[in-house]
Amino acid sequence: MTTIKNVAVVGATGKIGRPIVERLSTSKLFNVTVLTRDDSRGRDFPADVTIKQVDYDSIESLQSALQGQDALVSAMAFEAIHEQKNLVDAAVNAGVKRMIPSEYGNDLMNPKLAAFPIYQPKIAIRQQCEKRVTENPSFSWTTIHNASFLGPDWTLDFIVDVKNRKADIKDGGDVLFCATTYDDIAQAVIGILTHLEETANRPVRISSVNTTQNELIAIAKELGATDGWDLTYSETENLESEAFRRWAAGDHSEEVIAMFINRAFIGKGWGGYFPVRDNELLGIKDLGRDELKSIIKSAMDR
Ligand SMILES: NC(=O)c1ccc[n+]([C@@H]2O[C@H](COP(=O)([O-])OP(=O)(O)OC[C@H]3O[C@@H](n4cnc5c(N)ncnc54)[C@H](OP(=O)(O)O)[C@@H]3O)[C@@H](O)[C@H]2O)c1
Repeated sequence: MTTIKNVAVVGATGKIGRPIVERLSTSKLFNVTVLTRDDSRGRDFPADVTIKQVDYDSIESLQSALQGQDALVSAMAFEAIHEQKNLVDAAVNAGVKRMIPSEYGNDLMNPKLAAFPIYQPKIAIRQQCEKRVTENPSFSWTTIHNASFLGPDWTLDFIVDVKNRKADIKDGGDVLFCATTYDDIAQAVIGILTHLEETANRPVRISSVNTTQNELIAIAKELGATDGWDLTYSETENLESEAFRRWAAGDHSEEVIAMFINRAFIGKGWGGYFPVRDNELLGIKDLGRDELKSIIKSAMDR
């Protein structure tokens, strides 16, 4: 039976990369190596973490850094997803057994999302992984779908800004979506690396909580944010058509990217709600309402 001992992480200095490295390190199950473009940024990682500088333009540099690694976890930035192209080939050449490419979002296996231009780089990397598996069966991949990050950024800022009492309510505000804490995403990584067979060559879908925009606002109100809300309303179907129109005209701004993400995430039957999840397999427990309340409280007080 294959076991994973040596784990390399790229994008480790980023938002989701850091909690993943912390959790891998504190689990004491793995030897953790961080690959980074600038090794001076890795100084504050746990002392047992090895830091190596790499050049994403050089397969040789990546392959040499990956020699002896059993698994590669990527938390590469959204704007640099394409940088994983060399990384996949270097991982295969170096004999890496499991790669977790950078996804951490909506369910890109949902065919509705496959047409969105913003997701093409992630889909291309997954397809590259699928191809490499057919050529090298000892290589394998898993993607993590966690819908929205649950913390003071994203769910409690981008979806409902509980601190500033501001939200654009989409499709009436009662559409159920998934949200996942950084800690649970990091747990999913450990769950995958300790359940290799059950997670081979497929996405895993997880969440800490399933909620709605209206529920988040109701909880914030229970916590004292009773008035002064700045609420606007939109339909994700309209956001989608406007996003396609502006993208085709060359507008690839953050505003347009956000329109695509909102459609993909909140549109009913799209990619932000998972009726079937892998929580149990990966050791992730659902948050209770009180725990969600305390996360919202921290976001309000930040
Ligand atoms: N579901 C959600 O709500 C949500 C929200 C945000 C992001 N995400 C997804 O989560 C994944 C990681 O995102 P993140 O926000 O954690 O990433 P991030 O903090 O923006 O960046 C992660 C790391 O990527 C590395 N990197 C390598 N090449 C880069 C380049 N050319 N430009 C910028 N960074 C580069 C950097 O590490 P080094 O400098 O050490 O090389 C950086 O620290 C992405 O797939 C993103 O789409 C999901």
